[in-house]
Amino acid sequence: MNIINATLRKTPGLHTITCEGERISAITLQAGSVQAQPGDIDAQGQLVIAPLVEPHIHLDATLTAGQPEWNLSGTLFEGIERWAQRKETITHEDTKQRAHTTIRMLAEHGIQHVRTHVDVTDPTLGALKAMLEVREEARHLIDLQIVAFPQEGIESYEGGRELMTRAVEMGADVVGGIPHFENTRDQGVSSIKFLMDLAERTGCLVDVHCDETDDPHSRFLEVLAEEARVRGMGSRVTASHTTAMGSYDNAYCSKLFRLLKASGINFVSCPTESIHLQGRFDTFPKRRGVTRVAELDRAGMNVCLGQDSIKDPWYPLGNGNILRVLDAGLHICHMMGFEDLKRCLDLVTDNSARTLNLGEGYGIAVGRPANLVILDAENDYEVLRRQAKARVSIRAGKVLMTRVPERVELIGG
Ligand code: FE2
Repeated sequence: MNIINATLRKTPGLHTITCEGERISAITLQAGSVQAQPGDIDAQGQLVIAPLVEPHIHLDATLTAGQPEWNLSGTLFEGIERWAQRKETITHEDTKQRAHTTIRMLAEHGIQHVRTHVDVTDPTLGALKAMLEVREEARHLIDLQIVAFPQEGIESYEGGRELMTRAVEMGADVVGGIPHFENTRDQGVSSIKFLMDLAERTGCLVDVHCDETDDPHSRFLEVLAEEARVRGMGSRVTASHTTAMGSYDNAYCSKLFRLLKASGINFVSCPTESIHLQGRFDTFPKRRGVTRVAELDRAGMNVCLGQDSIKDPWYPLGNGNILRVLDAGLHICHMMGFEDLKRCLDLVTDNSARTLNLGEGYGIAVGRPANLVILDAENDYEVLRRQAKARVSIRAGKVLMTRVPERVELIGG
């Protein structure tokens, strides 16, 4: 299969990308635009990228908003109450069916790599069992990484350590955590040491919900980063949310950044979710409740964006389109300078792939998997400005999804 007239993100000119079997076998610079032969896919000069990535979502909670009641205040705390109501009716099939529906929504928007957090503070580990099945059943659409996520804490929840260990034994790919939620500062610190030990022993990756609060005294990020630095595990460790960093004073943050840089850890921000849920204790001035995305990026650290929720008790919107979160995130994070706009897709492609440790399994290069997405615009800036969507998604050398771009005619000039 040839994809002709392809514009690549970081190489000028039009290209032909040749796929043989499940791999990319050649990438050829064209002298100019070429005519399609039977079987070719014509990118028509539009951008061809490696698939979009969803680095942070909770597939066990999606598509439950309003069941049985809507979150009327929009707060995190009412979300927890609404979730407790919905949890009573959860079944294995219900979790699987909602996860599969959400995965199709993600795949329809050109996403082929997903990291989901799954609540393991449940003695039956029901959601995890369901998601392990989903990971296999959905392989033709996405690669799924499962995080053992202790929603109610590791130290604060009875049997929390055993549940985390069991979750990894059962097949979770990533060890999670929630240190700012533990009952005490000491428990938060010991939860990080425990989860880092577990990951180091088992070879799992790490992704911690870290300092997801406006409390400027929530400072578990420094603990996580130091553990990662000392153990030499930085590239395998991710700090998600870190919204408290938006409330840290600059003197502390300048010291913190030195450590973060030395640690080499990755960052995920979910700007639409955070701006919705954080800042809720403020009147005015009201904080944004989002981590320092632009500052991390400019300091040379790896930061990417995720959706977090799709229509769940904490966040009522979302449709699977990560480009919507990119659009909002660039506004929220003050990243609308042209240098940022020109490379904005990094935040939902290459940076996210690095966070997920996809390595040579990702990217447009000879020998790599023939996983490609054609977008409906010719560069990063136009993708964002025109709110372009994925037009074609190719996975393992086969077309997985096509979308017919909308056609609008002004009648009467
Ligand atoms: Fe989350």
